[in-house]
Amino acid sequence: MSGSFTPHAVLVTGGAGFIGSNFINHFMAGNPGCRVVNLDTLTYAGNLENLRSVENKSNYRFVKGDISDGGLVAALLHDEKIDAVVHFAAESHVDRSIMGPEVFVRTNVLGTQILLEESRKHLQSGCVDDFRYLQISTDEVYGSLGKTGYFTEETPLAANSPYSASKAGADLLARAYHETFGFPALTTRCSNNYGPYQFPEKLIPLMIHNILAGRELPVYGDGQNIRDWLHVMDHSMAVETVLKKGRPGRVYNIGGNNEWKNIDIVNLVCDLMDRKLEKAPGTSNSLITFVKDRPGHDRRYAIDAERIKRELNWEPSYTFERGIGETIDWYLDNREWTDQVTSGAYRDYYRNMYEARQ
Ligand code: NAD
Ligand code: TYD
Repeated sequence: MSGSFTPHAVLVTGGAGFIGSNFINHFMAGNPGCRVVNLDTLTYAGNLENLRSVENKSNYRFVKGDISDGGLVAALLHDEKIDAVVHFAAESHVDRSIMGPEVFVRTNVLGTQILLEESRKHLQSGCVDDFRYLQISTDEVYGSLGKTGYFTEETPLAANSPYSASKAGADLLARAYHETFGFPALTTRCSNNYGPYQFPEKLIPLMIHNILAGRELPVYGDGQNIRDWLHVMDHSMAVETVLKKGRPGRVYNIGGNNEWKNIDIVNLVCDLMDRKLEKAPGTSNSLITFVKDRPGHDRRYAIDAERIKRELNWEPSYTFERGIGETIDWYLDNREWTDQVTSGAYRDYYRNMYEARQ
């Protein structure tokens, strides 16, 4: 079922974001002979602090730029003799997509099409012998599940938020480039990630950040929505596996078999924080505040990741107990990182967002 591919020069897009930076740190440690070019426009979510461990390596290059800049993308592909693209760059937050969908379409749909087109032309030019394009997608393109069942790769796309709709559009473009042009695009669809360097607008880091600030912990609706959580390092390993062993044209779901109700996750984070900060049990829980629900809030996500296990031999390695404990420790040890990324424009975002939810 699977091929074998050894990349020599990888263009990573969005490599200064949460998953992209974890992927680069992981990939460069295990592939010292491979060149990595990181193209990132540094939106509010991109942070070069995440890449301190690789920034001085001779086989690493950071380029500040937009994936929608076709000329820049073409030049990088050619000049660096890129033979693999791992495409993380995106607007990634559902709540922001509800407040302003346009940039999601621009970056996630149009940006992806430009990247695909320049990559296709680059491969066609004969500059490299072999090539892979990996579209990093999300289980959210499948929509919402009821109490039972799982998303498989055959589940029809039924995106409900502007974010997931824009990701579904990008997935379909990657599929179209494979079907129409024979372009070697692969797609991964992963469940919710957690771990170090995640921007504190997403559930887990937001709760940690707010507990440290003594601020209320906003839980949307009844708190019974379910997400399937995977440690970002397991996601990074899965992406590397699909890049090297996956079959072009194929979609691979990635998940942790680790479903949690939001309210249970929030309670767990509260309990662990109380213990680590040596506070009386219940201190952090008292900050929990139920707020207005997110419009179109998907009820449940759960991934069937049998294909990647069976065909490519990938399985998650982190237990949730270990992953969540290490993640909280990381945020406690790196408070200046959170302070830095939440200064400036984030404060206005947070105030507007949560005023609307009162
Ligand atoms: P993130 O928001 O933390 O990072 C996105 C990065 O992309 C940032 O560094 C940003 O500066 C960069 N970027 C945005 N627009 C750009 C543009 N036009 N040109 C160049 N760079 C640009 O996102 P993340 O959580 O790391 O997610 C990465 C990818 O993984 C996304 O495609 C997302 O849809 C997907 N994904 C995320 C999750 C999750 O739980 N976070 C789960 C499954 C899939
Ligand atoms: P989030 O981390 O935004 O990821 P996604 O929406 O992509 O799944 O949210 C995870 C879940 O937590 C989702 O059901 C919405 C919920 N949530 C809250 O209840 N409160 C919050 O402040 C946030 C950010 C999310």
